[in-house]
Amino acid sequence: MTKSSIAVGADWGYAPAPESADHFRLRDHYGLFIGGKFVPAASGKRFKTINPANEKAIAEVADGGEKDVDKAVKAARTAYDKVWRKLSGRERGKYLYRIARIIQERARELAVVESMDGGKPIRESRDVDIPLAAAHFFYHAGWADKLAYAFPGKAVHPVGVAGQIIPWNFPLLMVAWKVAPALACGNTVVLKPAETTPLTALLFAEICQEAGLPEGVFNLVTGAGATGAALVNHPGLNKVAFTGSTEVGKAIQKSLAGRGTKLTLELGGKAAHIIFEDATIDQAVEGIINGIYFNQGHVCCAGSRLLVQESVEEEVVAKLKARMETLIVGDPLDKNTDIGAINSKAQCDRIRDYLKIGEEEGAELFQTRCSVPEKGYWIRPSFFTKVAQSHRIVQEEIFGPVLAIQTFRTLNEALEKANNTPYGLSGGVWTDKGAKIFKVTRGIRAGVIWANTFNKFDPTSPFGGYKESGYGREGGRHGLRPYVELS
Ligand code: NAI
Ligand code: MG
Repeated sequence: MTKSSIAVGADWGYAPAPESADHFRLRDHYGLFIGGKFVPAASGKRFKTINPANEKAIAEVADGGEKDVDKAVKAARTAYDKVWRKLSGRERGKYLYRIARIIQERARELAVVESMDGGKPIRESRDVDIPLAAAHFFYHAGWADKLAYAFPGKAVHPVGVAGQIIPWNFPLLMVAWKVAPALACGNTVVLKPAETTPLTALLFAEICQEAGLPEGVFNLVTGAGATGAALVNHPGLNKVAFTGSTEVGKAIQKSLAGRGTKLTLELGGKAAHIIFEDATIDQAVEGIINGIYFNQGHVCCAGSRLLVQESVEEEVVAKLKARMETLIVGDPLDKNTDIGAINSKAQCDRIRDYLKIGEEEGAELFQTRCSVPEKGYWIRPSFFTKVAQSHRIVQEEIFGPVLAIQTFRTLNEALEKANNTPYGLSGGVWTDKGAKIFKVTRGIRAGVIWANTFNKFDPTSPFGGYKESGYGREGGRHGLRPYVELS
């Protein structure tokens, strides 16, 4: 094997291995989940959620408006005052454990629905999203009766009613990230999932029913941006938590100004992924793949800016190309698929625009040669070389399978480039030297930095950003803080 080749296997022909979707039945249409019951929107309006891999409608979902949001917030307030805040932590914990176990029991169904509604490969929804969602509930179930130990010397109180808005890239996992800490700390919730991926949140509402969660503790209002805005603007909330674009995050912060509502924002990112010449290159290449092509690159902490030490650039790029050519793009329900469908037409158009912008800016585009299905939204794994720090493809979040590759000579140059961004969510470093790891992790202003790995998640580990990536942490003991008042 020459230095510029990587042993990624021969031309394997894979027979189709689709996961079946006939072990469960979805309803034709879903209502809002308010006060423990599924109810239609006051307006009677519904919208379709489609499968981005074949552009077919899967189900109709209620389009919630101001009246529905008001009803949901009131249901959450009543449940908070009358039931949830009065329960002991131990009792709250029991419900969270039950929810966690039902997620595990229904894992196969949840994984298939997640892949159908959002386009991600079944391998990821089955092995990452759903198990992690259950893990978040188990973890927070453990905290529910131990909050006094999380904040020693303080009396711990819940905040009240939380309004939570989540995006489409990790639909059920984001439900878990938001709902588990809120409930563990004694708050009640009104959640709005993303308009392209509401189905697993609706199944989660069923799970709350199945777990016997007291009515009104968890409420779900489906709809698009206007529904989210109605939730944010409702005066009955004590806390808002948002994950999504920096643009909407800024708008939410403005509309909450002066209201005393607590706010946490988890927004965009443009993470630097730094490869030093002393790294184990073959493993680093796997890390790069996992960093940017995981979940079609729809990942706020994706390693979307690769910084390679100049001396190994040629080797890294050659090996990366070879490895990328083995990635299978296609049917999200096929167990061999590495890269599924782009979540929506709008997102696909946005990524295509960036591919054009990159070429117009003078960067060189590489895309793999794999075939993609005719119907649906697809982007082949891509990267740009010959990019400048000022290029939009280096500065802006693309949120797709598109990597920008730059080089550096010294550690300080790498840090300077890494920090030259409005974002500060995550970063990564590959090196053989422990001292370098510490220098880099201290030198990058980002909330999460991985060393010799990338995109690893765990409920015990706090996650969140600096600068335009937002503020507040989710996960770990830090993630409890936004959901409690201390005295
Ligand atoms: P978005 O920020 O519009 O959507 C996220 C959530 O916010 C959805 O539930 C949406 O319905 C809701 N929302 C939209 N407008 C709102 C408003 N005015 N008030 C309250 N809630 C509102 O993101 P979008 O348009 O889907 O994606 C655009 C870009 O945003 C992506 O290309 C990506 O760069 C970035 N993004 C980043 C995410 C992250 O996790 N960092 C997640 C989703 C998108
Ligand atoms: Mg959908």
